[in-house]
Amino acid sequence: MAKRKQGLGWIEWLRGWMYVIYEMLFQRITASHLHNPLELPPLSDLTCIVTGSTSGIGREIARQLAEAGAHVVMAVRNPKAAHELINQWSASWHGLPLNIEVMQLDLLSLDSVVTFANAWNARLAPLHVLINNAGIFSIGEPQKFSKDGFEEHMQVNHLAPALLSILLLPSLIRGSPSRIINVNSVVSSAQLITLTRILLPLLEEEK
Ligand SMILES: NC(=O)c1ccc[n+]([C@@H]2O[C@H](COP(=O)([O-])OP(=O)(O)OC[C@H]3O[C@@H](n4cnc5c(N)ncnc54)[C@H](OP(=O)(O)O)[C@@H]3O)[C@@H](O)[C@H]2O)c1
Repeated sequence: MAKRKQGLGWIEWLRGWMYVIYEMLFQRITASHLHNPLELPPLSDLTCIVTGSTSGIGREIARQLAEAGAHVVMAVRNPKAAHELINQWSASWHGLPLNIEVMQLDLLSLDSVVTFANAWNARLAPLHVLINNAGIFSIGEPQKFSKDGFEEHMQVNHLAPALLSILLLPSLIRGSPSRIINVNSVVSSAQLITLTRILLPLLEEEK
């Protein structure tokens, strides 16, 4: 009988890391033809939820969507910071008033995800775009677990956005054709392989 493969080979592992390094070195060149900021069409018919929109990529996504006329819901763990941003954006914006609101969401708490989704679904309003942008990436820190018992990266980057997406499906269906956009990292292609290498032998032992 053929011997079962215990994990992914070094070629897959190497391919994952090559992909990450390629992206790091050539991203600027391959994206240099894109306008900055990207010009968005009028989006006044869309309602978009953006998680983690108080900083970085999410903040820019939320601002640009709002300036294009979308109804933007900033799903954040720090509502005060979100309100301050809205005030700043409104002060420097010369178009129609920005249609942005803030709702609290802490992905480190699955209760918070459920509360958020229930509150949103209770409006019986359509949701057109859910952007799962919030994420964490800590290097060199001790492993930490959420109060739900999951490793924090796993919960914030994967489990909580998955739960949020599933729970918001009734509103997304109401807004159909709707989209779920997951902002992620190419590093996941290497990390997933690393994780698989660790998990596969454990799963084999369980059998
Ligand atoms: N920047 C990059 O080069 C890069 C590369 C690859 C992938 N990404 C991915 O792109 C996404 C955005 O990255 P970024 O660079 O813009 O990161 P960032 O500036 O650190 O912003 C991350 C956002 O996620 C929020 N967040 C963190 N933990 C949360 C939690 N428990 N509940 C709710 N929100 C939480 C943060 O909220 P606070 O403001 O309250 O901290 C922040 O608004 C992430 O998913 C990241 O993995 C980024």
